[in-house]
Amino acid sequence: MAKLGVGVVGVGRMGRRHAENARSLVSEAKLVAVADVDIEAARRLAADLEIEHSYSSIEELVERKDVDAVVIASPSRFHLSHVQNAAEAGKHILCEKPLALTIDGVDDAIAAARGAKVLLQVGFMRRYDPAYAEACKRIEAGEIGTPIIFRSIGRDRQPPPLSFYQSGSGPLFLDSTIHEFDLARWLIHDEVAEVHAFGGTLACPELVELGELDAGMVNLRFSGGAIGNVESLRQSRYGYDIYTEVVGSKATLRVGYLQQTALTILNGEGVGHDVVDHFLVRFAEAYLNQLRDFVRNVLTGSQPRVSAEDARQALAIALAAARSQHDGRAVRVSEETRAEIRAAS
Ligand SMILES: NC(=O)c1ccc[n+]([C@@H]2O[C@H](COP(=O)([O-])OP(=O)(O)OC[C@H]3O[C@@H](n4cnc5c(N)ncnc54)[C@H](O)[C@@H]3O)[C@@H](O)[C@H]2O)c1
Repeated sequence: MAKLGVGVVGVGRMGRRHAENARSLVSEAKLVAVADVDIEAARRLAADLEIEHSYSSIEELVERKDVDAVVIASPSRFHLSHVQNAAEAGKHILCEKPLALTIDGVDDAIAAARGAKVLLQVGFMRRYDPAYAEACKRIEAGEIGTPIIFRSIGRDRQPPPLSFYQSGSGPLFLDSTIHEFDLARWLIHDEVAEVHAFGGTLACPELVELGELDAGMVNLRFSGGAIGNVESLRQSRYGYDIYTEVVGSKATLRVGYLQQTALTILNGEGVGHDVVDHFLVRFAEAYLNQLRDFVRNVLTGSQPRVSAEDARQALAIALAAARSQHDGRAVRVSEETRAEIRAAS
C-alpha cells in the first residue's frame, strides 16, 4: 500500500509531536512538509526531522501534490480557515480540538469537508488512550450497569505560555475542559443536557489582564438523568493530573494515575515517587494511536472514530459552560447552541 503523504500546520507544542510521530512512528505515513507562520520554527523542525519542505503558510503547503492529508495544530482561532484551505485543496484532515470556536464555524468546517469529499477527524486523543478505550469497552459491555455519576479532572502542572492565549487558543472551557466534555458524552453514552459552571483566576494573576480563567468547575446533567462534575486547572504545581471516574449501578471505573515511573522511595520522611509531568508524556501513546488510526482511515476509506459531530457536541457543551459561568446561572446545552447560532446569523 502506498504511504499517505502528510503535512503538519502549526509546529508548536502539539504540531511538533504530530510531525515527529508522522516522520518515524507511523509506518503507513510519510511526513512531506511542515508549515508555520514562524518560518524559522518550521525550518528548524524540518531540519530536526530531516525532511526537505517547510513553508510559512498552509496555502503553500497544500499546493504540494504529494501531501494527501494535513494535520492542523495551529492556534484554535485558525482551525476553521485551515480546514477550509485543506478541504479546498482536496486534502484529508486531522484537526486539533476545538474544530472551530463557534457552532456555525463547526458546521462550516463539516460542510467544507463534505463538499470536498475528504475525511475530517478531530483530535480528542483521550479516546485513543488504552485505559480510556478499555473503560469505554467495559461500559458498553454493561459491566458497570447504568452509569450514574461522571467525574473528571484535568490539571496542568504549569499554564501554557502567554503566547498561547495571545494567539487565540486559550479560553479554558473551549481549550481544556472540552476534553472532559468529550469524555463525558463518550463514556456515559448520552448527551449533556444542562451545565452550571463556575470559574476564577486565582493561580495565575497574569491571566487576569487577558480575561482568561485558570480554574473552572462544571456540574453536568445528562439527558437520561445521570449527573456529573468536571474540573480544569491551569496550574496544579505538583504534576499533570488527569483523573476520571464513572460510577454505575453495578460497578465503578477509575482512570488515572499520578506516578510516572515504577520507582517508589520509602524513607524516614515518608513515601515518595515522581509524577506525570505533561500531556505529551501522559498521552504519548494516545497521540500516536490517533495518528495511526487517522492514516488508516484515510487509506481504507473508513469513518473516523471521533467525528466532526462529536466535535460539534463537545463545543456546544463548552459554549454553554462559558455562558453559564459568565451569566452565573445554569444553561441548557440545546438552548445555548440555538442562541449561539442565532447570534452568529
Ligand atoms: N489534544 C491535545 O491534547 C492538545 C494539547 C495542546 C494543544 N492542543 C491544540 O493544538 C493547537 C496548538 O496548540 P499548541 O499548544 O501547540 O500551541 P503553540 O502556541 O505551542 O503552537 C502553535 C503554533 O502555530 C503557529 N501558528 C500561529 N498562527 C499560524 C498560522 N496562521 N498558520 C500556521 N501556523 C501558525 C505558531 O507560530 C506556533 O508555532 C491548539 O488548537 C490547541 O488547542 C491540543
